[in-house]
Amino acid sequence: MVRLLSAAAPPPSSPRGSGASPTGAPPSAPTTPTTAAAAAAALAAPPPRLPPSAVAALRAAALSPSGGVGGGGLVRASVLGAAGLTVYDPGYTNTASATSTITYIDGGRGILRYRGYPIEQLAARSHFLEAAYLLSYGELPTAAQGAAFSSRVAAAAGAGLPANVLAVVAALPRGVHPMSALVTGLAALGGVHAETNPALAGPHVYDTPAAQDVQLFRVLAAMPLLAAAIYRHARGRPPVSPRPYDPAIHGTAGGAGAAGGGRPFSYTGLFLDLLERRSEGSPSAVAHPVVVRALDTLLLLHADHELNCSTATVRQLASSGVDATTAVAGAAAALYGPLHGGATEAVLGMLGRLAAAGGVAAIPDFLATVKRGEVKLMGFGHRVYRQYDPRATLVRRLAYEVFEAVAAGSDGSDSGGGGGSGGGGGAGLVAIAVALEKAALADDYFASRRLYPNVDFYTGVIYQALGLDAGMYTVLFAIGRSAGWMAHWREFLADPEARIARPRQWYVGAPERAYVDVHARGRGGGGGPAPAVKNPAVLSKL
Ligand code: ACO
Repeated sequence: MVRLLSAAAPPPSSPRGSGASPTGAPPSAPTTPTTAAAAAAALAAPPPRLPPSAVAALRAAALSPSGGVGGGGLVRASVLGAAGLTVYDPGYTNTASATSTITYIDGGRGILRYRGYPIEQLAARSHFLEAAYLLSYGELPTAAQGAAFSSRVAAAAGAGLPANVLAVVAALPRGVHPMSALVTGLAALGGVHAETNPALAGPHVYDTPAAQDVQLFRVLAAMPLLAAAIYRHARGRPPVSPRPYDPAIHGTAGGAGAAGGGRPFSYTGLFLDLLERRSEGSPSAVAHPVVVRALDTLLLLHADHELNCSTATVRQLASSGVDATTAVAGAAAALYGPLHGGATEAVLGMLGRLAAAGGVAAIPDFLATVKRGEVKLMGFGHRVYRQYDPRATLVRRLAYEVFEAVAAGSDGSDSGGGGGSGGGGGAGLVAIAVALEKAALADDYFASRRLYPNVDFYTGVIYQALGLDAGMYTVLFAIGRSAGWMAHWREFLADPEARIARPRQWYVGAPERAYVDVHARGRGGGGGPAPAVKNPAVLSKL
């Protein structure tokens, strides 16, 4: 819940401890020492409604009377600062930190658009690399532009990963979580390119669009290469090199076709070959076109979702001037968390437990435990969507297509593993998922709270059917989202209002006190037991 801080409620501390407002407005005067108890009491009280005159004044000062966060008007924080007020908004649920032209979401109406194009049209007619182009440059590419873009990604991928980055991944324990390995690998990749690192080469290394493009292609190329190296490492298999061009893997859906005048290149085909080719000299691992297309569509559907936790992290890190790959490593770290990218894994765990408890027959008992608040229905609900997540509709359709292809046993893969062959229980899980969705949507508990399936509800069953380990699901999410991260990184660099991100805090700790000698502590002179964790259940509450 957003609240305003003023002298009445303890003010936030200034970065330099001066009490000065960052806007230059006179500081609000702290009258009494702030304490956690006073803050808790202030937060427990229901927030008063602003009088109509105050609302009218704020609306008059608004940058935009509508179209802001939550559909309301947008007021500059400096307007509040000039009045001695600061917004208290844990989780930034009602705070806009940037203007953006990349992605539009209307959660109430279930709308998602990249650069104005509805996600449904892009999923049906576009492909991941084209969406990456659209997100970064703002327009759909012409055939020649699309082919050139794909060729640049193909060339960057063809160069492979630096040997020392692969060595870093190989040095990790085999049982490491794939996301941990991805974060490590990306951080290592950021370290090997000194020539484009602002910390080493100066602050102007990203000043030109061409220099920004180098970063974009490096990241887009590295993601599938790193993901495949991580997947193989878990199986004790060394990575294989990307094949520059193999019609078997590249002449399929998902790339900019030869019609564009460039070399055909399938991003997903490349990835699946790197995952499943037996060894360096073995024939390419060729997946069923339905599988290639489905994975490509999943990457596209995950490519951007405006200022979610990981994308906000990219902008936050970019604001300090760190190199682009390290910013992406930080974003991947944010995505790793179970409340963000890790939910797909959790959905599959839930469906697996239902299967073990009797499948569809176990659903009523399970929903009863959800309604008693004992567990959550994973893959349901969303902070932004109060409607069916439009991506969930598309993923459900894809799940059926993949299961048909897998069940037909005609995947064409030479690998016998992920990227083509099916995990045996997948069809059973999708049947449970469909029945669970139906039962939940018919139940007043979920309807009254406007809880609908989100993108994660069906994604995991597709990955499971393809034989991918659960830990890899978030890595796949990261491959897709890297397109959005780079688009936001570029937009941040071009933003004339961008500055280093530095939120305020509301200090509720001890007032000034004198240092206590170690021998005097615990005898009424300070010390004592370590403070209790404020909210041990914070993760389950978020
Ligand atoms: N199962 C059961 N009850 C739920 C669920 C759920 N999945 N989601 C919300 N609720 C309940 C809340 O307990 C609350 O009930 P109450 O009014 O009786 O207290 C009510 O619905 C309203 O929920 P909100 O507080 O509005 O939900 P919030 O926006 O804080 O959380 C979130 C959104 C975290 C996604 C939540 O719905 C959830 O935990 N879902 C399951 C996890 C999940 O699928 N995450 C993936 C999100 S998509 C993505 O990140 C790519």
